[in-house]
Amino acid sequence: MDTEFFELSDYKKTGEISLSDEEKLIKAATILREGGLVAFPTETVYGLGGNALLKEASRNIYAAKGRPSDNPLIVHVADMESIEPLVKEIPRQARVLAKRFWPGPLTMIMEKSPKVPYETTGGLETVAIRMPSDKAALEFIRLAGVPVAGPSANTSGRPSPTTALHVKEDLNGRIDAIIDGGATGIGVESTIVDVSGDEPVLLRPGAITLEMLEACLKEDVDIDPALEKPMDSSVHPKAPGMKYRHYAPKAPMVIVQGDFYEGCDGIEDGMKIYEELMKIVNAVKALVNENAAPGKRIGIICSDETWEYYFEKGAKLPKEKVYKTEAIDIRSIGSRKDEKSIAHNLYAVLRSFDDENIDYIIAEGVDPRKLGYAIMNRMQKAAAQHIIRV
Ligand code: TXA
Ligand code: MG
Repeated sequence: MDTEFFELSDYKKTGEISLSDEEKLIKAATILREGGLVAFPTETVYGLGGNALLKEASRNIYAAKGRPSDNPLIVHVADMESIEPLVKEIPRQARVLAKRFWPGPLTMIMEKSPKVPYETTGGLETVAIRMPSDKAALEFIRLAGVPVAGPSANTSGRPSPTTALHVKEDLNGRIDAIIDGGATGIGVESTIVDVSGDEPVLLRPGAITLEMLEACLKEDVDIDPALEKPMDSSVHPKAPGMKYRHYAPKAPMVIVQGDFYEGCDGIEDGMKIYEELMKIVNAVKALVNENAAPGKRIGIICSDETWEYYFEKGAKLPKEKVYKTEAIDIRSIGSRKDEKSIAHNLYAVLRSFDDENIDYIIAEGVDPRKLGYAIMNRMQKAAAQHIIRV
């Protein structure tokens, strides 16, 4: 199959959809409405869109991704009216959260109506719904005129795509079209909250944090036990997708995590934080020494704050915060003071280690609160829960 490319050149430059971009979106939306598969940008990661009301389209999505078909898809809409036919009812909490966070990086699970095929929901009686805030995504869905089923547009098991190039690497020749709207802003998938029961339950952390959900609902949000105890195979995650070794780079990965988070407020706590960061750096260096072998390449994910400590004192540091030799590849993933930058870069860094044929990845952990909760959740999956605490 030839994959068509629709580059939204003006949108990429200005953030506004020009007439020529609009023409491309119309073509892409027509392909989708008629049953084709079209990858599209959102503010989180790229989605692989199909008409959510067509069984065939959903089946084709699973086939293109190589994804198990018990793993349900997220249905994307552009307005509230489009939701009503898809669900039994819109729960009170869903209305409150929608008013505050939609369009945006939040997915809500509700009871489905008969109109949504089981192929789309992986056989479940519930459906996941999201209204993305990316302008190109909204316009694409609006033009399609149907709800758009869209998992992340990666091959199953690879890190989610945050650029159209990532999508191309994974799915070229397997889908009908790719809309290129530039790099995504947030970089990790949407927060998923189940509002189909009495109590809201967080199934996947994301940019809309637990704290934000609770503040908005003025009630506690439960956490799916599978999020807290991912190693225990007796716990079945409510979001079936969370059980797979997702977001994974090709190389085995280990995380080195500090313990400076309880009771101290982030990176500003000068000395204490410095000491903890140095513990992490020293543990990473020790792991590098332990694992070094001829012909083996080790990838290190560090942060802007720790970057310099991987070099000799007084060494001239590369500006780009990427340093490669035969034996190692060190990259800063962003600043700990700006966790958004870390979320934004995470998957691209993991993919670049795949491209560089890295054999073993050692990553510094981040503060696991707020957005850091989502970052650590994805990192731990990439590392298959392999975590060393210092
Ligand atoms: O940010 C995002 O959410 C991106 C963009 C494209 O919107 N999409 C995305 O989709 O990450 P995907 O398929 O990679 O992840 C969807 C997750 C899976 O873990 C799946 O199990 C869960 O949502 N899910 C979908 N429907 C569900 C349902 N009815 N009940 C519980 N979990 C559900
Ligand atoms: Mg995914």
